[in-house]
Amino acid sequence: MAKDTVTIRNNTNGKEADFSLLRGTAGTPAVDIGSLHKELGAFTFDPGFMSTASCKSAITYIDGENGILLYRGYPIEQLAKNSTFLEVAYLLMNGELPSEVELSSFKGEIRQHSMIHEALRVFFNGFHYDAHPMSMMVGVMGSLSAFYHSELNMNDPEHRRISAMRMLAKVPTIAAASHRHSVGWPFIYPRLDLGYCENFMNMMFSLPGQQYIDENNYIDPIAVKALNLLFILHADHEQNASTSTVRLASSTGANPYACMAAGIAALWGPAHGGANEAVLSMLAEIGTVDRIPLYIEKAKDKNDPFRLMGFGHRVYKNFDPRATITRDTCYEVLEKFPSDDPLFELALALEEFALKDEYFIEKKLYPNVDFYSGIIYKALKIPEDMFTVMFVIARTAGWVSHWLEMMAEPGQRIGRPRQIYTGYDTRNYVDLTDR
Ligand code: SDX
Repeated sequence: MAKDTVTIRNNTNGKEADFSLLRGTAGTPAVDIGSLHKELGAFTFDPGFMSTASCKSAITYIDGENGILLYRGYPIEQLAKNSTFLEVAYLLMNGELPSEVELSSFKGEIRQHSMIHEALRVFFNGFHYDAHPMSMMVGVMGSLSAFYHSELNMNDPEHRRISAMRMLAKVPTIAAASHRHSVGWPFIYPRLDLGYCENFMNMMFSLPGQQYIDENNYIDPIAVKALNLLFILHADHEQNASTSTVRLASSTGANPYACMAAGIAALWGPAHGGANEAVLSMLAEIGTVDRIPLYIEKAKDKNDPFRLMGFGHRVYKNFDPRATITRDTCYEVLEKFPSDDPLFELALALEEFALKDEYFIEKKLYPNVDFYSGIIYKALKIPEDMFTVMFVIARTAGWVSHWLEMMAEPGQRIGRPRQIYTGYDTRNYVDLTDR
């Protein structure tokens, strides 16, 4: 029996086999069960993928017990402190931090592709004015499949690279346009003289009669720093639901823009990226600190569907390092952009209360990345219905990185899980008159 193997015996048919135990650079080893059905005549059953590794990846690593998050080996705390979103996007996509020349060229190419086809402006008109911006994001990102026909040979690494750059470059433009359509404002074109975050804020808030960024291209550095930070923190997170969706869609060889649209759709759910918007609604419903105990009890009540939004995580069972960094940033942003809305104080009180409660301690429920991010977005005047759209902008860097990684891997196979069938056994058709 070799050392790095696991022996599994099927006692119903006496079959037994050894399976390799695969180890990565760090983290939990995985049993390679690809031949299990052939060897033992059985499938594994793991709804929700509680114990299933779906792929090998070198992009991001999470140690949930110790609150560690690494992008290509670099601790999130160091990237949050020293880097910018586009530099982190380059790192995730290419595996190494860029040189000055590489970063400058990367930024230039992103600016070059930041515009969207004029025909897409008409596409937005198909959405009712009060459509949720996320519905426009899903639709418009997917519709990019209708363009760029000449560069969609997925076997060509350069076509894959340029597709990834286009999606990263255009997602802020599409996001800002989604907001502008929902408030009935004219679209603002991206500018070639502005950075990624500055361009986004300008496309979101400039008005024909009132420029958001003054003639000296000034935008408050605290706002730009906070946006860069939030985009860095949300850029990637291993095989979360939306990234896994992008990988599964991509395994069929589907158009990359359609695959990203699938990722956006998955992220929208309140259990995933939709939680940041849900946190603000929850805090508004709680309203005051004295009502916190009532909502903590609701969150603990199995008969009550209410959950503490922004709390809990499948992987982090100690603390989410991104929540800690975001909470600390709230102080700096709210000092610069004070708000009479007691949201932050309420959130701090809710965290303090929950972390002392036996239920949350026993179930290891801590604030996740979505708990404090909305407080910063609100201070930057980002509307609540745009919070998950902000998550889309950042996570596009992670999605395209995983897409590039899996498309470059030889021998990719279509993802096709099996099931346990619980329906009827074979039965004969019954004519209508006999039913
Ligand atoms: C993100 O996967 C990622 O990496 C995601 C993400 C990323 O960057 O991509 O980190 C981004 O999606 C963060 C999570 C945002 N979602 C929320 O904040 C929504 C609220 N949280 C929960 O719905 C839940 O905690 C999840 C979805 C985040 C995790 O779900 P799991 O891992 O399936 O855990 P579970 O639902 O099995 O909960 C375990 C127990 C349950 O109780 P029991 O059935 O064991 O009695 O904890 C309870 C749950 O009822 N529980 C909660 C709770 N979260 C879990 N109880 C009250 N409030 C909560 N928030």
